[in-house]
Amino acid sequence: MGALEKVYYSPAGKAIAAKAGLKEPPRLRRGEAWPQGAIVLASIGGGTLAEGTMRVLGRATQAPVIDEGDNAPGYGSRIGALVVDATEVTQIAQLEDLRALLRPAVRGIERSGRIVVIARASGEDWESAAVIRALDGINRTVGKELRGGATATLLLTTTDTAPADLASTLAFVLQGRSAFVDGQTWTVRAADGPEAVQERPLDGKVIVVTGAARGIGAAITRTLATQGATVLAVDIPAAGESLAAVANEVGGIALQLDITAPDAGDRIAQMMAGRELTLYGIVHNAGITRDKMLVNTDAARWASVLEVNLAAQMRINEVLLGPTTPGGLADGGRVVGVASTSGLAGNKGQTNYAASKAGVAGLVMAMAPDLAQRGITVNAVAPGFIQTEMTAKIPFIQREVFLRSNSLSQGGLPVDVAETIAYLLDPASQGVTGQVIRVCGQNLVGA
Ligand SMILES: NC(=O)c1ccc[n+]([C@@H]2O[C@H](COP(=O)([O-])OP(=O)(O)OC[C@H]3O[C@@H](n4cnc5c(N)ncnc54)[C@H](O)[C@@H]3O)[C@@H](O)[C@H]2O)c1
Repeated sequence: MGALEKVYYSPAGKAIAAKAGLKEPPRLRRGEAWPQGAIVLASIGGGTLAEGTMRVLGRATQAPVIDEGDNAPGYGSRIGALVVDATEVTQIAQLEDLRALLRPAVRGIERSGRIVVIARASGEDWESAAVIRALDGINRTVGKELRGGATATLLLTTTDTAPADLASTLAFVLQGRSAFVDGQTWTVRAADGPEAVQERPLDGKVIVVTGAARGIGAAITRTLATQGATVLAVDIPAAGESLAAVANEVGGIALQLDITAPDAGDRIAQMMAGRELTLYGIVHNAGITRDKMLVNTDAARWASVLEVNLAAQMRINEVLLGPTTPGGLADGGRVVGVASTSGLAGNKGQTNYAASKAGVAGLVMAMAPDLAQRGITVNAVAPGFIQTEMTAKIPFIQREVFLRSNSLSQGGLPVDVAETIAYLLDPASQGVTGQVIRVCGQNLVGA
């Protein structure tokens, strides 16, 4: 901690910060905890997908309060979440029904509560297409207006998405596992997944995690192990000691490997085949930054970042996704990339990094349809400001500004990214593919 930082976090520093209007950020509900208050369930136009999904999840629900003006009593006690089925919403006029549901709920929601709207991914005519975008605008705005760590999410579905397809997603969003996912929209399609959400969904599954020695990668390794997975933890030889410590802690396997080595994919496959293990998932987490304004970015800085963050994982995928590669990814498996909000929104001084991370988003979108036939899903998470050694390098004042520049007024924790990745790896998330989910507390930067 630098001198300035020490002063800032001292009691006197905190008092000055409070006077300057910098409030203590809300403490977020994390882990598998469900909302404390009631889950309110509503439907506009008679959609039944949300109701069916809550039944699959076995959670009780309460009827909604409809806005009746300023002096109406609203909810008697704080509610935990509002889930709105808007799958039959196709007309602009129906948006008023949503407003009337949202107003009392936003007023009466608990800390770290949830507003979740479930709608269709595409409309059959111009008006319904416009209405879907309107719902997206509402979601993003509600996310910004909610206080106390509460979040908003819009889940899009297709006409054949069944309650069992949506169950792992709705559970993730309502639980504390999604603490730092706010103002986001993603799509859940019909799929051939399990009928119920399992308690330890990754039991017996083997998953490769790159960059596992520290930071987000170490958190991913721990979270996946908690859910039953055996992790093949990969990191560079220079990080060998901490890699071994993380792998030992969770009963995983450590593999010292620079992912940019030309034979990196083969080394992973050989290790799997040699131990007669079936590879279920790959998490491409290893990444580096070499920040400079573009005018100061030379070819070496450019190449190293694109190589580690994008080209290496493409080469590894090519080997591990070969359908006949011994030790390669099994059908029904999972690939998860780690992008960044810097890639989606652009960030000064990070042209090389933004290129690589936007490339990761492009890669998963392109791969997903090609691998659908084998039941393999391919997704990415895009973290915003997460407190790790990577972000500890950012100068204090700049860091403090960055980490407050989101709807939750704080930086995320590595576990927030790890939990989102674990949700994507869940066999019950079979209907989620080709998606990029931002784990950024609704960062003010970018889409
Ligand atoms: N921390 C954030 O705020 C943030 C935000 C957006 C995206 N990300 C991304 O999340 C991922 C993890 O970030 P972090 O903050 O934990 O970073 P970190 O620097 O703390 O950890 C990265 C790990 O990757 C390993 N690694 C680097 N090059 C490698 C190589 N060639 N082969 C094998 N391993 C290699 C490092 O040794 C290190 O253990 C990265 O892809 C990063 O770009 C982080």
